[in-house]
Amino acid sequence: MDRIVIEGGKPLSGRIPISGAKNAALTLLPCALLTDEPLTLRNLPRLADIDGFGHLLTQLGVSITVEGVRRGEFGRVMTFRADNDAEPVAPYDIVRKMRASILVLGPLLARFGQATVSLPGGCAIGNRPIDLHLKAMQALGAEIELASGYVKATAPNGLTGGTISFPFVSVGATENALMAAALAKGTTVIENAAREPEITDLVQCLIAMGAEIEGMKTDTLTVHGKDRLHGATHAVMPDRIEAGSYACAAMITGGSLELVGAREDTMHAILAGIADAGGLIEFGKNSIKVTADKGIKPLSISTAPFPAFPTDMQAQFMSMLALASGTSLLTETIFENRYMHVPELARMGADIEVRGRAAVVRGVPGLVGAPVMATDLRASMSLILAGLAAKGTTEVNRIYHLDRGYERLEEKLSAVGATIARVGGEG
Ligand code: EPZ
Repeated sequence: MDRIVIEGGKPLSGRIPISGAKNAALTLLPCALLTDEPLTLRNLPRLADIDGFGHLLTQLGVSITVEGVRRGEFGRVMTFRADNDAEPVAPYDIVRKMRASILVLGPLLARFGQATVSLPGGCAIGNRPIDLHLKAMQALGAEIELASGYVKATAPNGLTGGTISFPFVSVGATENALMAAALAKGTTVIENAAREPEITDLVQCLIAMGAEIEGMKTDTLTVHGKDRLHGATHAVMPDRIEAGSYACAAMITGGSLELVGAREDTMHAILAGIADAGGLIEFGKNSIKVTADKGIKPLSISTAPFPAFPTDMQAQFMSMLALASGTSLLTETIFENRYMHVPELARMGADIEVRGRAAVVRGVPGLVGAPVMATDLRASMSLILAGLAAKGTTEVNRIYHLDRGYERLEEKLSAVGATIARVGGEG
C-alpha cells in the first residue's frame, strides 16, 4: 500500500493551485441523470471519488467523454450523457466504497420513476444514516422499501411537489431533494435546507439546465418542477476545504502560501479562524495569501453547518493548534466519531484530550516525526500537516484516504518547498 514520507520543519512558501471542489463535483455528476442531453462539467478534480462516481454513472447507462484541461483552469472537462436506458441500480460493491453514491437516488427516481440503491453503511467518522434522504423522497410521493441492504424507491407516476422540512441540516439530503424536486410535478419547498457553497453550486448548475429554483443561499429553497431539463456546461467551484487545508500548512510551518483560485465568499469562517490564530491574510484578484505571522494563537472553535466553521476543517485546525501558544478547545457537533486523528497526533507529541464531542488541545513547543496511520480523509490531511511541521521523518500510511480528496498533494506541496514523497508499499 502506498505511503507518504515527509521530512518536516521547513517553512512553505509559494503558490498552490486550488482544484475543483470534491463535494461540489460529487453532487454535480448525478445531475447528468436528470436529462438525456449532454452535461459538460469543467474544472473537475482528478480524485479517486470522482473516478468512482464516473464508474457508477457508466453502470447506470451514462456515456462519458473526457477532454483536456482548459487554459487557466486546473481541472478536467468531462461530458456526461444519460441517453440510454440502463438498470437504475447502484450496487453495494460501488456504494460501500463511496457513500456519495446515494446522490443518484433523487435523480434516478425523478427521471426513471424508480431507483435501487445499496444502503451506504457507516464509515470511520460515523454511522452516516440516510433517513432524511428517504423522508425527502417520500415527501415527493415516492414509495420506499428497504430489503437486503438496498433501498428500493418507486414513483410509477412520477414525483409530485411537496414540503420537505428537515429537522436538522443535511448537505446530502438537501442535494437529493433538490435534484428530485427539479423534475417533480408542481412546487416543492425545502425548509431548513443546507446552505453550504456546494449546494449553491448545485442550484446554479440545475438552473443552467432549465430548473426553476428560488431562495438560493438561504435555508428555504422553492423548486418549481419541470417536465424535463436540458444539457448545460458548468464549472465546478474551487475547493474551500482544500484551500483551508493549505492555509493551515502555511500556519503550521511558519510560512506563506498563495492559494490560487480560492474564493473568499466560501471561506469566511475558515479565514476568520486563521486570522484569530494569528495568520496574516491578503486578498489578490483570484487568490488568497496566508502568512504565518509570529506563531499560532490558541482558539475555541465549534463545528456547525455553513456559514459556521466546517466540520471538514476540524482535523486540520487541530494539527495547527497542537503548536499554539496556549490551550485550545475544539467541539465537533456534526459527526459522532471525528477524532480518529487524535491518537495519531499524540504519537507525534501532540497533547490532546478528548472529552465526548470536545477536544482540549494543549499547545506544545514542537512535534516529532513518526510512522502514523490515516483513518479517514480529513484525518489524513491533519497527519500530513503535522508531518510538515514535525522535526524528523513522518510516514503516513493508508493514504488511499487522502487520494479521495486531495489532488496531486505531493506535487503541490513539493512546489512550495516541502520534502515529501509517495512511496509504494509492500502488500
Ligand atoms: C457532506 O456529507 C460532505 N460530503 C461531508 O464531507 C461533510 O462533512 C458533510 O456534508 C457536512 O458538511 C459530501 O458532500 C460528499 P450531512 P453528508 O448529511 O451529506 C446526519 C469530507 O470530508 N444525517 O450534512 O453525508 C449525519 O450522520 C466529507 O469531504 C442523518 O442523521 O453530511 C451527520 O451527523 C466528510 N440522516 C449530520 O446529519 C441523514 O439522512 C450531517 O450530515 C443524513 C445525515
